[in-house]
Amino acid sequence: MTAPTRVAVLISGRGSNMRSLVAAAGDAYAIVLVASDKPDAAGLDWAREQGLPTFALSPRGIGKPAYEAALDAALHDAGTEVIALAGYMRLLSDSFVARWRGRIINIHPSLLPKYKGLDTHARAIAAGDAVAGCSVHVVTEELDGGTVLGQAEVPVLPDDTPDALATRVLAAEHRLYPAVLTRYARGLAHPG
Ligand code: GRF
Repeated sequence: MTAPTRVAVLISGRGSNMRSLVAAAGDAYAIVLVASDKPDAAGLDWAREQGLPTFALSPRGIGKPAYEAALDAALHDAGTEVIALAGYMRLLSDSFVARWRGRIINIHPSLLPKYKGLDTHARAIAAGDAVAGCSVHVVTEELDGGTVLGQAEVPVLPDDTPDALATRVLAAEHRLYPAVLTRYARGLAHPG
């Protein structure tokens, strides 16, 4: 028997990827914390309604070092083993990434290494790409730059708008992220 890997999910907004991760929790991983840098994030309300432990703190006013120290403490208090970024829109500092090296993963709405950063769907359409998609990757100090753990592709359709493409990619994200996290968590499996 192995115990489920203890996963904290970091969000900044609606949290639809977080919901898909919660829905697929089970033998491979358990969600032990949902944390947000935006105390009014819609996804936080949903997590609270599910009875999940939550942590909400804005860096505004206290600064990034104090914010990250408090976040780090909350993650440790929850017994976190893996951090899953899910629409978390803040850059983690190099020292935070170093402390959790190899244990932070992220979902990005492009086929990395294409289109790191923002506006991925508009950039894919502008480039005339026939295929778009999403990637789950290990977080390193380089933005959207760590090892890719899994990808899913969707077609770019004629007359696609960024919003229409985003909707198609998001549906693929919701399938990809739980599948990759399950595999990743099993890879870290430890005796229970
Ligand atoms: C997703 O498209 C994710 O890939 C990107 O931000 C969006 C977050 O959506 N990083 P949600 O909050 O998970 O609904």
